[in-house]
Amino acid sequence: SWTMEEFIGKEIARIRALCGDTGRVIGAVSGGVDSTVAAKLMHEAIGDRFHAIMVDNGVLRMDEGAQVLKMLREDLGVNLTVVDASDLFLGRLEGIEDPEQKRKIIGNTFINVFEDEAHKLEKDGKVEWLLQGTLYPDVIESISFKGPSATIKTHHNVGGLLADMKLKLIEPLRELFKDEVRALGRLLGIPHHLVQRHPFPGPGLAIRILGPVTRAQVAILQHADKIYLEEIHAAGIYDQISQAFAVLLPVRAVGVQGDARTYEQVIALRAVQSEDFMTADWYVFEPKVLRKISSRITNEVEGINRVVYDVSSKPPATVEWL
Ligand code: XMP
Repeated sequence: SWTMEEFIGKEIARIRALCGDTGRVIGAVSGGVDSTVAAKLMHEAIGDRFHAIMVDNGVLRMDEGAQVLKMLREDLGVNLTVVDASDLFLGRLEGIEDPEQKRKIIGNTFINVFEDEAHKLEKDGKVEWLLQGTLYPDVIESISFKGPSATIKTHHNVGGLLADMKLKLIEPLRELFKDEVRALGRLLGIPHHLVQRHPFPGPGLAIRILGPVTRAQVAILQHADKIYLEEIHAAGIYDQISQAFAVLLPVRAVGVQGDARTYEQVIALRAVQSEDFMTADWYVFEPKVLRKISSRITNEVEGINRVVYDVSSKPPATVEWL
């Protein structure tokens, strides 16, 4: 048996030995728990020789890029570059409705952008290592599991990078389970709200917009999603829910505003409780919380006149709608 303090000491020593006095490491960060903890550990071990890259793919939550920048660079001191590649991603997503197409485009574009950034860094000297926030369950799963998560992992498929750039993988979390990563994060001084954060999929809001992805649709969903999560936090129930998000439906419904008839889009709200996301139960809200969320979304979000709540469990539904 070992303590988390021992793990940190041992892992930092291992990273320093691997990287030597000059080795440089690049890694993608998303603002999620795993990549943040891995980045902070790398920073503790080798300081600014670790370069974190955050790619803004245009389908992040509202203000996500700015928040990750503040937390990682200002609060945690990590050497971070945020790349705004939203035009490129949204351009390639234009007119695409098929969810697997969306995932593929976002995964491939991510690799392209990340590779460009890595080549820019190489102007100041060789980058030898690629940081991956792989956890123990991912290690096991990639050996034995051939289910839907083969798709889930496409975002993190960096095989091309490893081959083209001859990068070697560095995986400081590969012996840890999720709850251990959270404990490690707390010890490294990562704030509670981040350590307890719900998962957010790599393809982001693109798989929560059921029709084609446009800047206007992204803006509507970001606004509804922000209100939804604000009210969940205000009700003090965020930590009871495993994942909560809004979905933008590609249908129009009739409504009324003053004496005028409206014909606008519908937001579906999803909230689930789950141990491992292989199965999930829909979350039972207090009616007054749902009432407040619905009234705020229909009043504050232009383009939405109706809100519905998803009462489907997994299986047979999935957590995401796409
Ligand atoms: P489903 O919809 O398969 O979701 O029940 C289970 C969990 O996986 C997440 N998910 C994804 N994560 N890329 C990701 O990084 C994806 O393409 C993807 N699809 C689903 C989902 O948010 C939930 O936590």
